[in-house]
Amino acid sequence: MRMGIIVLGLIALLGCSSVNGDTEWWQTMSLYQIYPRSWKDSDGDGIGDLQGIESKLEHLVDAGVDAFWISPIYPSPMADFGYDISDFMDIDPIFGTLDDFDNLVATAKSLGLKVVMDFVPNHSSDEHEWFINSMASVDPYTDYYIWKNGTVLENGTITPPNNWVSVFGGSAWTWNNQRQAYYLHQFAEEQPDLNYWNEEVVAAMKEVLVFWLDRGVDGFRVDAIPHLFEDSTFPDEPLTGDTDDPTDYGYVEHDYTKHLQETYDMVQQWREVLDNYTENSDGVPRIMMAEAYANTSMTMKYYDYGAHFPFNFNLISNVDGSSNAAEIKESALDEWLNNVPDNATSNWVIGNHDKSRVATRYSPEQVDTLNIINLLLPGVSVTYYGEEIGMEDQWISYEDTVDPQGCNQEEDTYESYSRDPARTPMQWDATTSAGFSTSESTWLPVNTNYLTLNLAAQVAADTSHYKVYQALTALRKEAVIQEGSVNVQLINNNVFAFMREYSGSVPVMVVANLANNSETVSLEVFDNAADTLLVSIASVDSSLTEGSEVSKTSLEISALSALVLRSGAEALISSGIIILFVTALAYFHH
Ligand code: GLC
Ligand code: MG
Repeated sequence: MRMGIIVLGLIALLGCSSVNGDTEWWQTMSLYQIYPRSWKDSDGDGIGDLQGIESKLEHLVDAGVDAFWISPIYPSPMADFGYDISDFMDIDPIFGTLDDFDNLVATAKSLGLKVVMDFVPNHSSDEHEWFINSMASVDPYTDYYIWKNGTVLENGTITPPNNWVSVFGGSAWTWNNQRQAYYLHQFAEEQPDLNYWNEEVVAAMKEVLVFWLDRGVDGFRVDAIPHLFEDSTFPDEPLTGDTDDPTDYGYVEHDYTKHLQETYDMVQQWREVLDNYTENSDGVPRIMMAEAYANTSMTMKYYDYGAHFPFNFNLISNVDGSSNAAEIKESALDEWLNNVPDNATSNWVIGNHDKSRVATRYSPEQVDTLNIINLLLPGVSVTYYGEEIGMEDQWISYEDTVDPQGCNQEEDTYESYSRDPARTPMQWDATTSAGFSTSESTWLPVNTNYLTLNLAAQVAADTSHYKVYQALTALRKEAVIQEGSVNVQLINNNVFAFMREYSGSVPVMVVANLANNSETVSLEVFDNAADTLLVSIASVDSSLTEGSEVSKTSLEISALSALVLRSGAEALISSGIIILFVTALAYFHH
């Protein structure tokens, strides 16, 4: 009895201070991206599906994530693996049925997980019935897409209306015989751009949002937003001068095809749809996250126009494994933190299905460092599937390449464009196809390293990327991470650190060494930190481990590793050691 009181008293006195009730569910979430073709195959066809996802949701609970976003699962000819949608309000048979989707949502809810859909508003598939009707000039679909006559040259040949280039390479215009006109596609030619100048298109896409809200989704990741509107006078884009290749997306600026003001206004309208839905239902916010590769000011502008947040791609676009600590601090961390609007919720993204994996873009040694940064900086953290175990890119031959961005290239250049290497199946265990599928052949090959690099092995190991990840998601639940201030400091060119503080909480310090050699540093710059610190989480390759005591003024940190540090006594409390000690004392006293 007395023992119980002492223990409870100590926990109340020194334990984690609780989180106040003002934040909305999404502001503190750790979000996980599922690429559905690659996460879990339930029927042995070598392609992931909804029943597969449902069967593995426990993994997300175990990993400590709060919400997941699924890349497109709508009917699609799969020219861009689901980002070419032929029906915005159904499920592709490859992935299952609407019933499977409803079951998935119900199971997710029962596990306390939020579900976010991928909304792809800029384009449909060329097999969508809207496009089929538009090609035939059937109203009201005639102007659902951007049609334009070609330019007739003196010799009679017809060429595209202007010099606009597609993101995937080549002209952004494709000639259509049936309609005798060119149509615009900012991505693949199988992805005709919808015409947002047409109010009927705007209304139809709002209905899509409501359709999925009615099925219980908690929000949307909105795809390729900057491309929504194009200048309706179709001027040539200015040349960048960066390349002589007119088929390269970098050949022209994108002044007339990206970031138009009307695009922001559209986002605001979608926000109104979400807010109305919330008001007329249970009052729980439905969220919108904007995918926009843009400079800082154009990115932040999405906050003003109703996005809950635009993805922060700084750790993808501005820095990589060759960056030193000064560059990471300035170009990624400060660049975001110093520009994010007051009271806006920050977010951090370290990978997605369009980019190389962290282990490859940075290095395998830096997987924990990136997860530590991602999960312990203020705001939302976004994890691409497999990053919790440090999956690596898989080299894929030109013959086996399926990504249109790779296939549009020649054999000597495809590797810098193909996104397939980062999309290989999730590595669950060491069985057939890494436990992803019962089939030995999968839509993309399983990474050859799966026998050693897989979730089951990392669950079994004492230290692993996954164990680090779990410790981080647990720490995220504390008020100091959810609501604390942040102070980022450059310690030297190779080492940066940040401290999170919140009144009533034990501060958390993160130190990261970006160099290939160990560094001995002083963290004196953090006045409020105790002189003696304890390692609470460490990169797997660090020479220090959980519970190691270190000095604030002379701390040796291993090559390419990161440490999460907390002050002595209190940190012990939070790792439970003192509680055990007191328990033992009380027991003997008794
Ligand atoms: C987004 C998606 C990408 C897709 C493109 C076209 O950038 O993330 O995968 O190819 O939009 O929809
Ligand atoms: Mg567009």
